[in-house]
Amino acid sequence: MARSALLNVMVQAAMKAGRSLSRDFGEVQNLQVSMKGPGDYVSQADRKAEEIVFTELSKARPGYAFLMEERGAVEGDDGQHRWIVDPLDGTTNFLHGIPHFAVNIALQREGEVVAGVTYNPITNDLFWVEKGKGAFLGAEKRLRVAARRHMDESLIATGIPFLGKPGHAQFLKELHQISQKVSGVRRFGAAALDLAWVAAGRFDGFWERNLKPWDVAAGVLMVTESGGKVSTIEEHGNPVDGASILAANQELHPQILERLRAAAG
Ligand code: IPD
Ligand code: CA
Ligand code: CA
Repeated sequence: MARSALLNVMVQAAMKAGRSLSRDFGEVQNLQVSMKGPGDYVSQADRKAEEIVFTELSKARPGYAFLMEERGAVEGDDGQHRWIVDPLDGTTNFLHGIPHFAVNIALQREGEVVAGVTYNPITNDLFWVEKGKGAFLGAEKRLRVAARRHMDESLIATGIPFLGKPGHAQFLKELHQISQKVSGVRRFGAAALDLAWVAAGRFDGFWERNLKPWDVAAGVLMVTESGGKVSTIEEHGNPVDGASILAANQELHPQILERLRAAAG
C-alpha cells in the first residue's frame, strides 16, 4: 500500500527519533552496570527523541498544534490539526535494556484521529494507519485483528499499575476475572505496542486504565482499521482519552467487557 505524503512525514519523524533512541539504547546497556545507573541518561534520550519529532513535524506541517508527553500542549494557527506524540513509550523497558519500546505519533483532524505511526526502532517494526485506508506493518502487510472467538483460546495484554499509579486493588479484581477464562495474560510494558499487536492479531485483546492520549491515539485507529473494536470500560467516554481502554476483535470485545464490568460490580 502506497503511503500518503502525510504518512511519509510521520514515518520519517518516527524513524529519525527511533535512530536516536536506538543509539541511546546501546549506551543504556553499558550504563546498566555502572553505579550511577542510566536514569538521567534515559530522560535525556526521551527529550532528545521528542525534540526530533517536534522539529520534523513542525518543518513539514507548520501551524499544526501538538500534544506531547514531555513538552505538553503547543498551540498552532492551523486550528484543525493536532499531533499527539509519545517520543518513547515503554520507558521502563528502555531503562532496563529490554528492546520493547516505540515512538508513537498520531494526528487528529477536528478532534478525530485520522492517522498514526507506532515504530519500534530495535525490531524495525513500523505500524501505520490512515483512516479509511487500513492499518499496515511495514510496506506490505495489511493488519487484521485475530479471528479467535472464544475467551478460552485468547491471549490478552494488559498494563499493571505501578508505584505512583492509582487502581491497584481494582486491577487485581480485573485480573482475577480475566485470567481464569483465557489462555494467557501478558504485561509487555508499552501500551502503544500492545494496541498495534492487537491490530496485528498477535494479542486477542488489551485493557488498561489511567493511560494518556499519547499512549493510545494511534493504536485506537489501528485496531478499528484492522476490524477490531475499541471502547472505554465504562459505558461512556472516548477511549482516546486513555482513562480506560478495551481493544479486541468484535466477538471477544463484549465477552471481555462483561468480565471487566463484573470486577467493578
Ligand atoms: C507507559 C507504558 C506502559 C503503561 C504505562 C504508560 P511510558 O508509557 O505505555 O505500558 O502501562 O501506564 O505510562 O511512560 O513508558 O511512556
Ligand atoms: Ca507512554
Ligand atoms: Ca513516554
